[in-house]
Amino acid sequence: MGEATCSAPGKVILTGEHFVVYGARAIAGAIDLRAYATASTRNDGVISIFSEDMGISAEWRGSDLLRESKRGVSERLRPLKEALSAVISKVEGSGLTVNINSQIPRASGLGSSAAVAVSCVAAGLHAYGYRPSPPEIINFASIAEGIIHYRASGVDLAVSTYGGVISYRRGSKPTKIEIKKPISLLLIDVGTPRRTGDMVRHVSLLREQYISVFEKIRETVEEITSECELALINNRYERLGDLLMINHNLLRAIGVSTKELDNALELAIRSGAIGGKLTGGGGGGCVIAVVHEKEIDAVYRKLLRTYSVYKVTIPQDGVRCDSYKPE
Ligand code: MEV
Repeated sequence: MGEATCSAPGKVILTGEHFVVYGARAIAGAIDLRAYATASTRNDGVISIFSEDMGISAEWRGSDLLRESKRGVSERLRPLKEALSAVISKVEGSGLTVNINSQIPRASGLGSSAAVAVSCVAAGLHAYGYRPSPPEIINFASIAEGIIHYRASGVDLAVSTYGGVISYRRGSKPTKIEIKKPISLLLIDVGTPRRTGDMVRHVSLLREQYISVFEKIRETVEEITSECELALINNRYERLGDLLMINHNLLRAIGVSTKELDNALELAIRSGAIGGKLTGGGGGGCVIAVVHEKEIDAVYRKLLRTYSVYKVTIPQDGVRCDSYKPE
């Protein structure tokens, strides 16, 4: 039996979410919250998946569901099962047992489903002794993401696989943005999660109705992304904070913010943050806040009185194989 444990990071989108689906450039960074997957090979043709953090499991042979921990939960694991079936075909294997343990809050705009998919396919391939390239990992993981998210741009999979801080445009190879010094950010989780796919669908309908207005906003977001890249490279926190605020207000304009996200951002500013924005799909989830290094602990403590808050640092490693025992 071959066994491998792989992990992949969650992400924050600094600029460009939603507009990236329509060709705009986005900047995203890998954060220090990871999803871990341990895969072991088996020779009975069964795919067995257990998600420790969700507390659910299911088993299939081919397309037959053999077992699920609770009625209906297998549907939530099916996207991963489809990706793992493709992995098994690639390596001409038989079956896999996969255990997942993720530190990334779900449905919070932090790329949890992408990180889980990336870690699972990487672990499955490594367990069979196959060393995948990053594009191969992305291809297999996108089978799962394609089922979960409507029109996914691929930015979540790219940052989870490559790590670092990346500049991403749909259809092009991501490039790394080298920043002089790691940057710590606060993530404020307002809860009330919405499915990313639903938010992308909402934006798609709005875009169809007001295409020329939408295009103008998209162009402005492109400009913000370029300015943001310079601010990041040079550790210009004030500029970064201001640019994220502008991006947040454009996301509000397309209807993906909520009162809760706006209030969290306002409280972050009142508590000493320079600026920030919602991150990811919106409709709930997380706000990222830029804070001067020396003030970050004080602002963190203030926000903790009201919200779940995480202190994260970018950049981080992308997918990696943490341990491997050959067959
Ligand atoms: C989700 O993290 C980012 C979105 O732009 C969707 C996507 O790019 O696939 C909202």
